[in-house]
Amino acid sequence: MAIQRPKGTQDLLPEGSPKLSLDTQASAFTHIQDVARRVLERAGAQFIATPIFEDAELVKRGVGGSTDIVRKEMFTVTYFGDHGGFILRPEGTAGIVRAYLQAGLKQLPAPLKLWTHGPMFRAENVQKGRLRQFHQVDYEVLGAEGALVDAEAIALMVGVVRELGLKGVRVKLGSIGDPEDREAYNAYLRGLFTPHLERLSDDSKDRLERNPMRILDSKSAQDQDLIRELDVRPMLDSLGEAAAAHFAQVRAYLDDWGVAYDVDPSIVRGLDYYRRTAWELHHEGVGAKSALGGGGRYDGLAEQLGGPMVPGIGWAFGIERLLIALAAEGVALPAGDGPLLYLAAMEDAQVAFAAKVAQEARAAARVEFAYRPQKPGNAFRDAERRRARYAAVIGSDEQERGVLKLKHLGTGAQQDVALADLKTFLEQENA
Ligand code: HAM
Repeated sequence: MAIQRPKGTQDLLPEGSPKLSLDTQASAFTHIQDVARRVLERAGAQFIATPIFEDAELVKRGVGGSTDIVRKEMFTVTYFGDHGGFILRPEGTAGIVRAYLQAGLKQLPAPLKLWTHGPMFRAENVQKGRLRQFHQVDYEVLGAEGALVDAEAIALMVGVVRELGLKGVRVKLGSIGDPEDREAYNAYLRGLFTPHLERLSDDSKDRLERNPMRILDSKSAQDQDLIRELDVRPMLDSLGEAAAAHFAQVRAYLDDWGVAYDVDPSIVRGLDYYRRTAWELHHEGVGAKSALGGGGRYDGLAEQLGGPMVPGIGWAFGIERLLIALAAEGVALPAGDGPLLYLAAMEDAQVAFAAKVAQEARAAARVEFAYRPQKPGNAFRDAERRRARYAAVIGSDEQERGVLKLKHLGTGAQQDVALADLKTFLEQENA
């Protein structure tokens, strides 16, 4: 058997591929990136790109030693003479904050809004919507701590999915407090769970030691039964005064702007760097256990990475999961455009000339060329398969007169266009 792609990865395929589905359609994928770019750049975000492999220490310190990502899901990079000091990035935030510190971006006007998209890697148990290489659109705001920035970030995230035509999205909003609130809450959880240690899953026994809050996020039914039984007080009811006031302000802005959300006291998030505002976007098509996207405030992250205190907030959504949600709602995404013009030569004698016309016309529009001489019938059929708007076959007569007989493949109408006017004609058609 020919070599297959690794488990948990996907190929993005061109239009017309035999096994195409929405979540592997390259044009749907790039459409999401284009829409995100439009919405985010309108809000003042600038594009940033960071490496897809980073120092393992960055992820351990950034994402956090108690997370599943660091404990079980890291893809280690090894190369000759190296012993795995690098890993494939599991998310974008830690790398962006590292770049912010390393490149001195603090000198730029604050708040600095950045966005990126690209592949992320987590060695997860593969299932629908849970891949080992997946892609995120990621938005980060650095250098601002007010609640207004939180509310704007949430509204923007909702704005991107709305612009894509997705309707059934729910925002689950919570707050995980300041570090001291979390410490107190973790102490409360330790007291609560320790007498029932034997009933916790092995993973959660470990979590009880490292970061008890993570138990609440456990996927084990055994853990969830115990959580219900113990009637655990949620983090949201344990916020300190400052975090509670911040949360109330975020909500007030969202209410004011008509951005709908549900307060979810159980929100924990799977990364350690969060504090205060945290949220997830959910969609029925993706299933209750997996979020479409998530984000939160991470004011301590820059310090965690060895820099000064830099307040930050951001979010990311998974492009593959968005595509699953769009497919579930039956939202039609624009298929990639075909060429505006398809050109062929009638005989060998006109091939070089027709190829030159095609190359020159590409200054104005997308033009495909047939390479081999074609009879008009074959040329038009081929042009239709490629979804061209116009097609023309250049014979000796056309070459001599310097005129193209353009056929509109949708209507069948024909018209003569002088070669001298071709560029202008294509530009007008393209507008
Ligand atoms: P996250 O919640 O770990 O947050 O991931 C964000 C989104 O990435 C998820 O909601 C999901 O759509 C997608 N995703 C995560 N893992 C997978 C997977 N295995 N397969 C497919 N899709 C997946 C973060 O990564 C944070 N960096 C977000 C953030 C930015 N917070 C602040 N700034």
